[in-house]
Amino acid sequence: MRRLLSITMFLGLAAFASLQLSAPVDGAAPERAVVDDTPLGEAMEEIETHIRTLRKSLKDPAQNEASLTAIVGLQSAVAKAKVEAPHMAEPMEGKAKADFVLAYRKAMIAFDRDLLTLEENVLDGDLETAMATYKGIRGREDKGHERFTSDE
Ligand code: HEM
Repeated sequence: MRRLLSITMFLGLAAFASLQLSAPVDGAAPERAVVDDTPLGEAMEEIETHIRTLRKSLKDPAQNEASLTAIVGLQSAVAKAKVEAPHMAEPMEGKAKADFVLAYRKAMIAFDRDLLTLEENVLDGDLETAMATYKGIRGREDKGHERFTSDE
């Protein structure tokens, strides 16, 4: 009887846990569309990882090597991202589509330029300017997502 009770309790707990795992989180809207199984989504995930490193490492000159590694990682991720087209371009056609993809590519080129500047700033040991360049990059993130992503 005790054994039956334990099995019943185990099954009950397992069912509860699986419900918790599959339950949608009410009211927690995603910050941006999640499309991480595309090459662009994956490159963006890489970008995010390196940006997280920089947020901390740029505050500490002892971490300049880590900053430089993250910046080169970002440059490589941006190189992958810029040859892709945003998911939003899929239903577009003709000139509208070409213009949209071109604007995206130019925005990524501008991002790339900032990364070269950031690399120079860190190599010069000028972390104050590096932080200003970093903040500009974060501004590009917001503008880029506003213009080139949607929730669908
Ligand atoms: C610091 C800079 C940036 C960070 C940390 C960042 C991060 C991300 C992340 C985490 C995603 C979701 C990926 C996923 O899970 O699928 C994403 C998506 C996206 N981001 Fe960025 N991003 C940055 C800059 C930019 C810029 C500058 C642009 C445009 C010029 C851009 C365009 C996009 C687009 C288009 C998507 C959706 C992917 C798709 O349409 O297939 N991002 N980004």
